[in-house]
Amino acid sequence: MEKYFILQNGVKLPKIGYGTYKSTDGGGGRAVSMALEAGYRLLDTAAAYENEEEVGRAVRESGIPREEIFLTSKVWKDKLGYEATKKSFEESLERLQTDYLDLFLIHWPKPDPKSRDWKELDRGSWAAMEEFYQQGKVRAIGLSNFLPHHIEALLEAVKIRPMVNQLELHVGYLQEAAVQYCRSQKIQVQAWSPLGRRRVLEEPVVVRVAEKYGVSPAQFLLAFLLEQGIGVIPKASSMERLRQNLELPSFAMEQEDMSVLRCLPQMGWSGEHPDLPRVQAQKELGV
Ligand SMILES: NC(=O)c1ccc[n+]([C@@H]2O[C@H](COP(=O)([O-])OP(=O)(O)OC[C@H]3O[C@@H](n4cnc5c(N)ncnc54)[C@H](OP(=O)(O)O)[C@@H]3O)[C@@H](O)[C@H]2O)c1
Repeated sequence: MEKYFILQNGVKLPKIGYGTYKSTDGGGGRAVSMALEAGYRLLDTAAAYENEEEVGRAVRESGIPREEIFLTSKVWKDKLGYEATKKSFEESLERLQTDYLDLFLIHWPKPDPKSRDWKELDRGSWAAMEEFYQQGKVRAIGLSNFLPHHIEALLEAVKIRPMVNQLELHVGYLQEAAVQYCRSQKIQVQAWSPLGRRRVLEEPVVVRVAEKYGVSPAQFLLAFLLEQGIGVIPKASSMERLRQNLELPSFAMEQEDMSVLRCLPQMGWSGEHPDLPRVQAQKELGV
């Protein structure tokens, strides 16, 4: 399998990365160091994960040249707008102890679902990110949790188009409309919680199809997204799981199985949605 997606500006994005959310709880940067040792070269962090210092330390201590590592961070929803995003970006660099990022994302399109000025805030954040990009402080800029209407609103005002959109995507929650839209705009899609944070690992249909191809359920879930041109950033804490998720055996998936898995009822959704309060979203969708 080719290891990279090529973004619209030519930057190579590793197809499989390591998600660091909660990965430093308890053990400091140990899991991140293990991920680097296992061969991961994309590390996904965010200001909101409060672990940029540990991630940066693990990178330095690994001895791997900085340019061989793809570092992603994100600005949190309470730091939207030009000035706040500028400050947040500089603070991320400082905590990571690096002078550039490979990818910087707006974590969520709105400070909260009721926000009235989110379009202006996103445009302000984006203007700051365009500056960093032009100054060479970040190699690619993008979005996270942006649905087509959020992206449309932003595209009206951009000089540089978003290169990546990171969305919750896994079997049972495939957000096909959002993925199709991103493809039409040449925005590379990357899946967060590609294993549904374990919620879909034991679904009988997943277990059955994984068995058919002789792979673990986690490997199947990751290969299923990669097959559709979607990047993945699974989090794992043991060397065995880290390796399992990175070293995917190659197998040809039958169209019928792909179709079955793309047409399942919704399952394993986190309950997080940019336009709906969390509780309301859970009630309305019955999860
Ligand atoms: N942009 C956003 O808004 C957003 C939101 C959420 C997450 N993210 C990013 O996406 C990354 C991944 O998502 P996530 O951490 O929510 O969930 P995930 O990667 O879907 O699932 C992680 C869980 O699956 C388990 N696991 C990993 N590999 C396994 C395997 N081979 N077999 C069995 N279990 C396995 C892990 O267990 P152990 O850890 O115990 O090994 C952990 O409990 C995050 O770390 C973060 O970087 C982004």
